[in-house]
Amino acid sequence: MNIIYKTVLKGSYYTAIDKNQIDYQIDSLICIDENGQIANIVKPNNGDYEKIHHEAEQQGTLMALTKDQVIMPGFIDLHVHAPQWPNAGLALDRPLYEWLDQYTFPLEAKFKDADYAHLVYDNLVETLLANGTTTALYFGSVDNTGNVELVKACLDHHQRGFVGKVVMDNPAQTPDYYRDESAQVALDETEAFIHQVEQLNKNEKIPVTPVITPRFLPSCTDEVLAGLGQLATKYNLPIQSHCSESDWENGYALETHGQRDAAVLDDFGLLTDKTVMAHGTLLNDEDLDRFKNRGVGIAHCPISNVYFGNAVMPAKKILAKDVKVGLGTDISGGFDPSIYQNIRQAIMSSRMLDEGVDSKLSPELRGQEDAAITARNAFYMATVGGAQSLNLTTGQVKVGYAADLQIVHTKYPTFGHQEPEDTFDKMMYQTTAAEIDHVMTQGIFVK
Ligand code: GUN
Ligand code: FE
Repeated sequence: MNIIYKTVLKGSYYTAIDKNQIDYQIDSLICIDENGQIANIVKPNNGDYEKIHHEAEQQGTLMALTKDQVIMPGFIDLHVHAPQWPNAGLALDRPLYEWLDQYTFPLEAKFKDADYAHLVYDNLVETLLANGTTTALYFGSVDNTGNVELVKACLDHHQRGFVGKVVMDNPAQTPDYYRDESAQVALDETEAFIHQVEQLNKNEKIPVTPVITPRFLPSCTDEVLAGLGQLATKYNLPIQSHCSESDWENGYALETHGQRDAAVLDDFGLLTDKTVMAHGTLLNDEDLDRFKNRGVGIAHCPISNVYFGNAVMPAKKILAKDVKVGLGTDISGGFDPSIYQNIRQAIMSSRMLDEGVDSKLSPELRGQEDAAITARNAFYMATVGGAQSLNLTTGQVKVGYAADLQIVHTKYPTFGHQEPEDTFDKMMYQTTAAEIDHVMTQGIFVK
């Protein structure tokens, strides 16, 4: 009996097989079933290759790539502040607390307005997909009116969305005009949002997942943190927050709780194997062990860290420790919606942390031993690391995985033969949205 696939992509692909290695396969048939899963990958030396190729051609399901196009997994953006999209690139010379007070909170407060939220979110989701981001973990705003629009935008555009109602109820650290009225109201609204998402997901092929979202320690009361920990358990939901992003945040935790922020969040039940903590530039060894033991993932946001972290997250060390780690744009702490840009910045920042190979003459200006990461390490974080952090079977071109893919062409001519490993490196450095020809989420073309 013939198997009818929904789509058969014929082409070469790259996928990360571990932290350091990329698999490259030429001219394969990636067979995608009706459910949007990769059901079969047929290599040219397989005896069934011709038959499957012929059948797909007959059925009109074959899509043959050109020779300068390749297939890669779609990216996972582990940290996006959706309502901050209109401010991307704005006021990045200010310190975090001033940027929050003067630019960010006033903007986020506007998302009470459904029309404004729809306008912004529709554009944001479309832009992220156009940049190859098939899965995104979003911070919404305090108000659920806007959050519902974000969920709808993910569903409308078929992006694998994780969306959190932002909780901030601490009057000492949040403005009167943008705050949850009380801890109880924040918890009620979080629970209401969970049910709203449930309703909106009905009959959807790629449902949105609600996420428990305390903004960060300073903006939350102990009461709300305890309640959110309980809600995460009750509904078995992912959790996201910011952790050890800045000295200010760490100092706040020490001053108010006598502990580091990772320990405080842990005490409230907020560090689980479904938790993603953004930034982590200043996590110490004890914090990292805690993350590893709990199964917490880190959203590494290398562009944003240049501005608000004033530090480099030690990606090489974190990868070596086998703590889950993916990449995030942190719009608008990061100015760019592209994970490719964050791959590049992750590599460049790590090289600034590194002592360098020829640094003997000026060791006082140099950093750490073996801190530099490669394009392969960064690609692994953007795909496998992100998927692990969200416990998803995506991020790889592999049988049984979701067909969340991007089809990309090389930007510049090669003027002769080029080894696939070299093409891969160049693509990591050169790709923009203009080189991403097609994007697919769960087997559905979204670009
Ligand atoms: N810490 C608390 N809120 C934020 C935010 O919106 N962006 C960043 N980068 N850090 C935060
Ligand atoms: Fe952030």
